[in-house]
Amino acid sequence: MQSRVLTLEDGKEPLQRPQAKALPMRIVKVLAFFLCLGIVFSAISVYLTRYYGVYSVVSKPLVGLQPCIEAMDALTRWIKPPSSLMHTMSDEELLWRASFVPRVKKYPFQRVPKVAFLFLTIGPLPLAPLWETFLKGNEGLYSVYIHSLPSYRAEFPSSSAFYHRQIPSQVSEWGKMSMCDAERRLLANALLDISNEWFILLSESCIPVYNFSTIYQYFMRSNYSYVGAFDDQGPFGRGRYNILMAPEVNISQWRKGSQWFEVNRELAVTMVRDTIFYPKFEAFCKPHCYVDEHYFPTMLTIEAPHLLANRTVTWVDWSRGGAHPATFGRVDITEGFLKRIREGNTCLYNDQPTDICHLFARKFSPSALEPLLQLAPGHLGFGDRREDPGT
Ligand SMILES: *[C@@H]1O[C@H](CO)[C@@H](O)[C@H](O)[C@H]1NC(C)=O
Ligand SMILES: *[C@@H]1O[C@H](CO)[C@@H](O)[C@H](O)[C@H]1NC(C)=O
Ligand SMILES: *[C@@H]1O[C@H](CO)[C@@H](O)[C@H](O)[C@H]1NC(C)=O
Ligand SMILES: *[C@@H]1O[C@H](CO)[C@@H](O)[C@H](O)[C@H]1NC(C)=O
Repeated sequence: MQSRVLTLEDGKEPLQRPQAKALPMRIVKVLAFFLCLGIVFSAISVYLTRYYGVYSVVSKPLVGLQPCIEAMDALTRWIKPPSSLMHTMSDEELLWRASFVPRVKKYPFQRVPKVAFLFLTIGPLPLAPLWETFLKGNEGLYSVYIHSLPSYRAEFPSSSAFYHRQIPSQVSEWGKMSMCDAERRLLANALLDISNEWFILLSESCIPVYNFSTIYQYFMRSNYSYVGAFDDQGPFGRGRYNILMAPEVNISQWRKGSQWFEVNRELAVTMVRDTIFYPKFEAFCKPHCYVDEHYFPTMLTIEAPHLLANRTVTWVDWSRGGAHPATFGRVDITEGFLKRIREGNTCLYNDQPTDICHLFARKFSPSALEPLLQLAPGHLGFGDRREDPGT
């Protein structure tokens, strides 16, 4: 310390010092003047903007704080979900945009992961009141997206979780590639919200069979995604494989499974970004192949087998036989029936046995709504016990 002060005081560079001192002094004065001017202008512009909503033209070039504020806005733009779901992007543009993935794994902001409920529907959602009851009180932990026939006009009140949640949709047909397109469209729209971490595909006939917190924790703590994928050796499994899909897909990789999946963000991106398997399935998994039963199960088995539970958590009853699973109406909804859905199975969860295997169930007709609402508080774990109308 002492020596440094001495060397400075010693005057070892006597020639440079006066110059060096005088020049900055003048510059400092000029800078100080402009700084003051800037502060005054920024104060005025902040005042004007605040109280009159006037955007001062002079504020932009002069205010030193501006870049900082703009940088914050730029990050907010990435974090905030799109304000309107009705964008004008084509599918090609949407899938490209949705495939963006940050390479830095840690989020530099408080991210509360959300569950995205993706409703693939024809039009109306007759069971919406049950879903509203299920979602109530969990705002900020979920988001809703609806894909319906483009001609359908939804009319939900602004208080509804389904209000303005329709995405730009196109006609989709069962068993055709247009069905997978609709599913990718739902995934892609939901991926635009960086907080969505789990993606649940549902139809208008699906119901939740546990309360929100149970379902939320089940997904958030899961090491695997839930995609039905099994190797069916028979005519309706391997029998639908076409050798022309090789070498991208060979017969030992061919999988079959229910269309109703529950995947995490990583797999959702894998599904929307695919350009390798899509053309093969589009060209060679034609009618009687039922592409919606094979494309995602097979593609994900090849791309990320270690992330698959190989089962779905959506319960369905095929026991009545035929081409379609059973549909349940008013008379079917009993305590015993709901108990059977919730506890009638055992399976693996994070490689450990559990009897919570199904979080959702299908198919339920509109007439099931009334008894479901009635039984939900006691037997599904959500909703308020209703007052008896007489009391
Ligand atoms: C949800 O259900 C579980 C058990 O089924 C229960 O322990 C929990 O308290 C319920 N949560 C809420 C918020 O009702
Ligand atoms: C799976 O999850 C459990 C906790 O939920 C964790 O302890 C375990 O390490 C995970 N396993 C793998 C392979 O990530
Ligand atoms: C199919 O692909 C897998 C993985 O690339 C490979 O191990 C297997 O031998 C192939 N089977 C046939 C029949 O080509
Ligand atoms: C799911 O199946 C794939 C192969 O198809 C396998 O690699 C993976 O380990 C299976 N997942 C679980 C949880 O067993």
